[in-house]
Amino acid sequence: MDQRDRAFSCKAEAHEASEDVGRNRSQAPTIGDVIAGRFGRRDFLRGSLTATAVAATFGPSLLRAGDAAAQTASRYVFDEIEHGVDETHHVAPGYSANILIRWGDPVVPGAPEFDPLHQTAAAQEMQFGYNNDYVGYIGLPFGSNDPEHGLLCVNHEYTNEEVMFPGVGIQDETGFANMTPDLIEIEMAAHGNSIIEIQKVDGTWQVVADSPYNRRISLRSTPMAISGPAAGDPRMKTSYDAAGTRVIGTVNNCAGGITAYGSYLTAEENFHGYFWGNLTEDHPEYANYERYGVPDAWYNWGEHFSRFDLGKEPREPNRFGWIVEVDPLDPTSTPVKRTALGRFKHEGAESIVNKDGRLVVYSGDDQRFEYLYKFVSAGRVDPSDREANRDLLDHGTLYVARFADDGSLTWLPLVHGAGPLTAGEGFNSQADVLIETRRAATLLGATPLDRPEDVEPNPVNGKVYVMLTNNTRRTAEQVDGANPRADNAFGHIVEITEAGDDNTATSGTWEVLVQCGDPAEGEVGALWNPATSEDGWFACPDNCAIDPQGRLWVTTDQGNGWKKASGTADGVWALETEGAARGTGRMFYRVPVGAEMCGPCFTPDGKTLFVAVQHPASDGTKDYPGFERSSTFEDPATRWPDFDPELPPRPSVVAITRMDGGGPIGS
Ligand code: FEO
Ligand code: CA
Ligand code: CA
Repeated sequence: MDQRDRAFSCKAEAHEASEDVGRNRSQAPTIGDVIAGRFGRRDFLRGSLTATAVAATFGPSLLRAGDAAAQTASRYVFDEIEHGVDETHHVAPGYSANILIRWGDPVVPGAPEFDPLHQTAAAQEMQFGYNNDYVGYIGLPFGSNDPEHGLLCVNHEYTNEEVMFPGVGIQDETGFANMTPDLIEIEMAAHGNSIIEIQKVDGTWQVVADSPYNRRISLRSTPMAISGPAAGDPRMKTSYDAAGTRVIGTVNNCAGGITAYGSYLTAEENFHGYFWGNLTEDHPEYANYERYGVPDAWYNWGEHFSRFDLGKEPREPNRFGWIVEVDPLDPTSTPVKRTALGRFKHEGAESIVNKDGRLVVYSGDDQRFEYLYKFVSAGRVDPSDREANRDLLDHGTLYVARFADDGSLTWLPLVHGAGPLTAGEGFNSQADVLIETRRAATLLGATPLDRPEDVEPNPVNGKVYVMLTNNTRRTAEQVDGANPRADNAFGHIVEITEAGDDNTATSGTWEVLVQCGDPAEGEVGALWNPATSEDGWFACPDNCAIDPQGRLWVTTDQGNGWKKASGTADGVWALETEGAARGTGRMFYRVPVGAEMCGPCFTPDGKTLFVAVQHPASDGTKDYPGFERSSTFEDPATRWPDFDPELPPRPSVVAITRMDGGGPIGS
């Protein structure tokens, strides 16, 4: 078991998926399986697919990318890239993929240049952090939607010590022996967020050096406020914060969202991995922490910093797992943890202004058998006054989703006093309901899903898309409509239609948009085989973006193993949601070996796609032919993007544009 297996459950779960594909699978798919996979269980059960429809379905889906018919059927105009894994990244012909900013590049005015052999926490707090994930764009000035000048808001999810620091090596071999307090402080500084001003100059995106907007937010030192129903609750109080209303930093920020009023929501995902130590079973937080997997000791921070040691600060984990709101237009503003949106392993926080003006924020809880949530604000967005929206997210209702097999959807409110959410079940306040969101959702009868990651409302067609990465632990007995496969190694995507196209509705309908995997190999197919497999299929949807035309773009996270579940590196896929080719995809971009694809984000004109290449060289390189060992600082599987023998691999944000400077991406 290498470090990733132990350290990063999100990744380890996907790693398990890639191991599982080696098992014997003798069940050949029936045509019904494939149709159901492409068109969704409900359509198939209704028998709505006639023979003609089946022919129409299979026509484009089995055509190779580049075939004239496939191009005609597609709303996306580009030639699919060749699948594979190598040391660098690749983008479709006619496009350029330029590095915008890398780990260690200066962010804050006066920041030093990156010096990998002499890193310090103070320098890292002024430089771009590690493992960029979410990317959000706000045109400047706010309200202009300027597509060539704006702010980029970027999450830094976690750190990979073995490729960041010289002499650390693989933690399984060294324990944490080489992780000194100084290195840990660099790690804490590398977590959090970056806000950078960027501008397109002569067709190329550049960071505006020394912009007053440029800001680093870190786990090490950035003060944050806690607001909403859980603020000030006794369960939120620590020796540092006797009031339970302030906390230092944010951790494991995965995906996020930009609201209509220009705030930046950043989601705290796998917070459990940062704590170690133990609580006795009679401790009042014992059962709460067990539900979230606290502690998991991915890092040895608790050895040197008491707030990450449960024995010393038993309530500190209750102060993570929230959505944090940042005002990127005010670099002096204090980020706020908005507890009304619940506490779980938030993957993202994409929002939409409902037709009545209320804000609706969707968020998945990324773990096997966890749930999908949405928050509906009580107040309405004031488009004319940013300040009036400041505390909109402190008041409203959090709902969790129940998917019925007949294709209906119910949103269940998590409100103290309603149904089972009473003192009889240990909920004495709304703060209790929110601190233990998962337990409350279980009592309400929410539907356990196959790792709900990004959730994105599409303002063009009114649908909501839910990425379900994988779940190899689902058994045949646990299969249901919204989770139609046991041993789900490849994941699927669910499309929700809210009742009356009202995002605040408490009911709706759903369909499976696509069950990922290779139709030539069966719905739970083997590794990608160029002799039999069709291009166009993909595995493990994680993040997504809707372009200005309302088209869906999906990025993948297959976890460990260079062959990955699909036999190709992670990347960006254009995924049809309409017409005969609905549910089919084409690969637009792929990452270098060991990396994961995050953060797809379009500019308002659709002419630039920003993507975040996370942990290059890190995942699964033991299986990479010719390398076959775990990467270290001294010996990484790739030195992307610099390919300089003096520099380690560096997570980077990439700006993709058309070489001809013409229209939107994929048009
Ligand atoms: Fe951080 Fe669930 O991806
Ligand atoms: Ca993710
Ligand atoms: Ca991920």
